[in-house]
Amino acid sequence: MIRINNFNLPRIIGHRGVKNLFPENTIESILAAFKLGLDCVEIDVKISKDKVPILMHDHTLDRTTSGSGFAHLHRFEDIKKLDAGSFFYKKKTNCLVPTLEEVLKLFVNTNKILNIELKPSNSLEKDNVKEIFKLTSKYDSVPIYYSSFDLKSCLELISINKNAFCGLILDSFNDCGLSQLIALSKKNNFYACGLNKKIITVDVVRELIEKKIIVTVYSDKNITNNEAKELWNMGVQSIFSDDPTSLLNNF
Ligand code: G3P
Ligand code: CA
Repeated sequence: MIRINNFNLPRIIGHRGVKNLFPENTIESILAAFKLGLDCVEIDVKISKDKVPILMHDHTLDRTTSGSGFAHLHRFEDIKKLDAGSFFYKKKTNCLVPTLEEVLKLFVNTNKILNIELKPSNSLEKDNVKEIFKLTSKYDSVPIYYSSFDLKSCLELISINKNAFCGLILDSFNDCGLSQLIALSKKNNFYACGLNKKIITVDVVRELIEKKIIVTVYSDKNITNNEAKELWNMGVQSIFSDDPTSLLNNF
């Protein structure tokens, strides 16, 4: 197995930038994560109608921007006019929806790791991966960890570059059990996996580590100091944090 730009995921990963402190998935949020000293930041990426990879968590523009409707049905020239901060500050702002390329430029020469969560719109899984990878290939000095809830996206990525660092994310074990996650990860040479905190147990983490699969954990709420300590003690490599201020002050 040849891996280029080998890296270790740090203990704390900024979630959508630092989503509780600044509007998620914006340049402001990513720069705030840098300023706090985080070595890895997670963002959600999908393509616009004209196939520009942009930062957007939801399928639609409604929750996080002043626009509405499906993101993949809007051209970037229209998306870039939207306010991506007013949902957070409850007033007009100058925060914009960034392109992935703008974000990649921020990471050049920083040694920081970018975690791109592949968040495709339905039926655009292949195009999404293709466009994202086309762009990230131009920034090969930036260490990137790709992840996705969408297995199709992970497989597509690995089919384009078998050495890419990728991980499947699971919210529950309902559709994919632990054994299946392990089998898929080994077969496809996935680097890590992402699990919701609610499905984490000592045994789950032990089994994944025994199989040499790195475990990252996210939660619907900001992970507390005590929870983080417990997770790291279990052997979890990284936790996603919405607001790492207290963690950084205490560990
Ligand atoms: O990858 C961890 C986390 O980002 C997954 O959940 O919904 O915040 O994208 P979500
Ligand atoms: Ca995400």
